[in-house]
Amino acid sequence: MLISGRGSNLLALLTAIERGEVPAEIVLVVSNRADAAGLAHARSRAIATLTADRSRYPKRADRQQRILSALLAADVDLVVCAGFDEILRTEIVAELSGRMMNVHPSLLPAFGQTLNAQAEALAYGAKVTGCTVHFVTDDLDAGPIVVQRTVPVLEDDTVESLSARIVAEEHKALPEAVRLYAEGRLVIEGRRVRILDAAVD
Ligand code: GRF
Repeated sequence: MLISGRGSNLLALLTAIERGEVPAEIVLVVSNRADAAGLAHARSRAIATLTADRSRYPKRADRQQRILSALLAADVDLVVCAGFDEILRTEIVAELSGRMMNVHPSLLPAFGQTLNAQAEALAYGAKVTGCTVHFVTDDLDAGPIVVQRTVPVLEDDTVESLSARIVAEEHKALPEAVRLYAEGRLVIEGRRVRILDAAVD
């Protein structure tokens, strides 16, 4: 899992795994910021962490090469970007094609390619917004969509209240997307992700 901040999506996924709702294991948490609060969730569970920040690796290419090496060494099946605030280089995206997801706080393709999607939805006057979990491609925020969940925009919403409503849905959408992936039920067909029915025994 790749994070930069508070890591509430990391915690939501960990909690879902611990409840037995997602057949997965988080083996490595990577941050590009040494002070990312979310690292504490990994450390408290003795999950390996890697900090690849700008002071250690000033060049983006070196930093991301370090991250890619760690992901490959950990032999991960899936990489999840949740609040990771760096655009990944083409080489990394290609290496992890079909194996990397991102969670974005809007209903893509609306309000993509921004770190302020919630504020932009509010300012635009959208009546409905939400969150999207999608596969990562070189087209920023435009990869095949796995799960979307909607929220209403209320009359008295602020950026904070709307963001809180959206992130609560991210906490459901991300575990669902990882569960479907872990169950082998996602098939990427061009822009579309086909979700296979659960296997019947
Ligand atoms: C989420 O809203 C995510 O969609 C966005 O950044 C936020 C990360 O939150 N990309 P957290 O670090 O998982 O709490």
